[in-house]
Amino acid sequence: MIVQGRSNAGLEHGVAAGATSTHEHERFVDVHCHCLPNVDDGPQSLEESLALCRALVEDNIGLVVATPHQLGRFETRTDAQRICDGVQRLNRELSRRGLNLTVLGGAEVRLDERICTLLANGEILTLANQRRHVLLELPHDVFIDVEPLLHALAAAGITAILAHPERNASLLRHPHALSRWLAYGVHLQLTAGSVVGSFGGQAKEAARELLARGWVDIVASDAHDTREGRPYMKEAFAGIREEFDPELAHLLCIENPLRVTNGQRLIPARSHAAQEAR
Ligand SMILES: [Fe+2]
Repeated sequence: MIVQGRSNAGLEHGVAAGATSTHEHERFVDVHCHCLPNVDDGPQSLEESLALCRALVEDNIGLVVATPHQLGRFETRTDAQRICDGVQRLNRELSRRGLNLTVLGGAEVRLDERICTLLANGEILTLANQRRHVLLELPHDVFIDVEPLLHALAAAGITAILAHPERNASLLRHPHALSRWLAYGVHLQLTAGSVVGSFGGQAKEAARELLARGWVDIVASDAHDTREGRPYMKEAFAGIREEFDPELAHLLCIENPLRVTNGQRLIPARSHAAQEAR
């Protein structure tokens, strides 16, 4: 059975829906994480997967969307049913061990001309299976204008969330295109580690620049295993609080990710900044 995105999913995990202040007891929602075992370049065993899940819990994450790579080099390995079965199995293992974490289904989808057709067929997954947001991974080596895809997705009622633009050199060379896509309603997702420098100075600088422009609507771990370090959500949250604004940190690490899992429209950081200025 597919673990469907459920309304008010976060309320069951100490995440306060619609809250705007930052409270210690609130837990993060991570909408980009390779936590399923034996499907992609994430954990290669159940034990590795559980170690990653423990790290998520230690990082104060209560709800995570499993986003194995779909299309691209993992096309033959990660079909939708395999992901959904894996989510169900991992939730069973987590509850058996008393780990306070819930996993929802999803995918990180490599740019591909078949995306709309495959979404319609249910062969690739939206985040939390809500048919509202698709997490899109663009090629790093070549720039492709995704405006036609954004139009086609919008016609199907689906909004793209671009994964880690701060780590995509070809995208950073085209800020005007990025700005145009934002006007079409695309959302940008930063990797938490980039905010704190775990992907190097260039990614950290790009992350800060995108945050300063108000272009980032969501922060997620993109964690693959425990070898590469922590998921860094706590550190990214604290960094954004200190360098920018506590309300923005809450929006990017708790409120908007929770909205993704509930299939709700995100609050753009740009409109949040405009409200602050009034
Ligand atoms: Fe990823």
